[in-house]
Amino acid sequence: MRIPLAITTSARPKEWLVAQARAAARQWRVPFIARQPKESIALWFETHAEALLIFGHDGVTLWDREGHHGFHGGMAHLRRLRVAAGEPDTFVRVAELRAGDAVLDCTLGLAQDALVASLAVGPGGRVVGVEKSLALCALVSEGLKTYELGPDSCRVEVVHADALEYLRTLPARSFDVVCFDPMFARPQKSQPGFDVLRRFASHDPLAPEALEEGRRVARRWVVVKGARYSDDLRKLGLTPEPGSRYTEVAWGRARPLEP
Ligand SMILES: C[S@@+](CC[C@H](N)C(=O)[O-])C[C@H]1O[C@@H](n2cnc3c(N)ncnc32)[C@H](O)[C@@H]1O
Repeated sequence: MRIPLAITTSARPKEWLVAQARAAARQWRVPFIARQPKESIALWFETHAEALLIFGHDGVTLWDREGHHGFHGGMAHLRRLRVAAGEPDTFVRVAELRAGDAVLDCTLGLAQDALVASLAVGPGGRVVGVEKSLALCALVSEGLKTYELGPDSCRVEVVHADALEYLRTLPARSFDVVCFDPMFARPQKSQPGFDVLRRFASHDPLAPEALEEGRRVARRWVVVKGARYSDDLRKLGLTPEPGSRYTEVAWGRARPLEP
């Protein structure tokens, strides 16, 4: 039987890379498979594992038999440049993010919003990202270790958990902003990497209990992203915020529960 996820290296790895990959395998409690010179991983998808996190000299890549995605800043990189230049970003605006804030991202995904938040809250702030999929969580956590955040951002702390279970462990009013960006039922026109995200992601819709727990944990806003074509936000009792007519995304937000 194939294991769901294993860790390996690119062909002909340097010793430090093998050490890094082995350490990651221990941290994420998944098997490490040593790569033999000239060995192709294509067969491994038949015999060993459904997915592989491959440590290469140029970064970490998640593979399955349909494709792969290497961790990189993606659109977050552009959004961060714009935020640094004082230009508006919808997430930052809707969440009213400011320096020193603590942000809990309950659906970390590829950490695009978390990376924007880390700059918006700055080095004195805090960003925690929760991700339910082990493969995505390991990819992003390992990728973030070498992402150049620069001095104007805080680091992104990554937690492998179900968001509702994690929220239940937190004290009331312990984060300024709690955000949810669940998978849309219908794929959007999307940037590269999102097809990999869709295959590995948890497709749970946002449960009303998770929203309520978010309202207990938040001090300012709970922010929820939804698909403009769906009535997901309204079903949760949220009114979509006014926004551009040209995006497929609708934003909703809820105030914290009264203490
Ligand atoms: C649309 S993506 C989020 C994208 C993210 N905002 C970004 O900027 O890259 C949704 C992510 O939430 C994760 N997810 C879904 N349900 C979850 C849950 N209950 N707890 C934690 N993560 C969850 C999925 O696995 C997926 O990676």
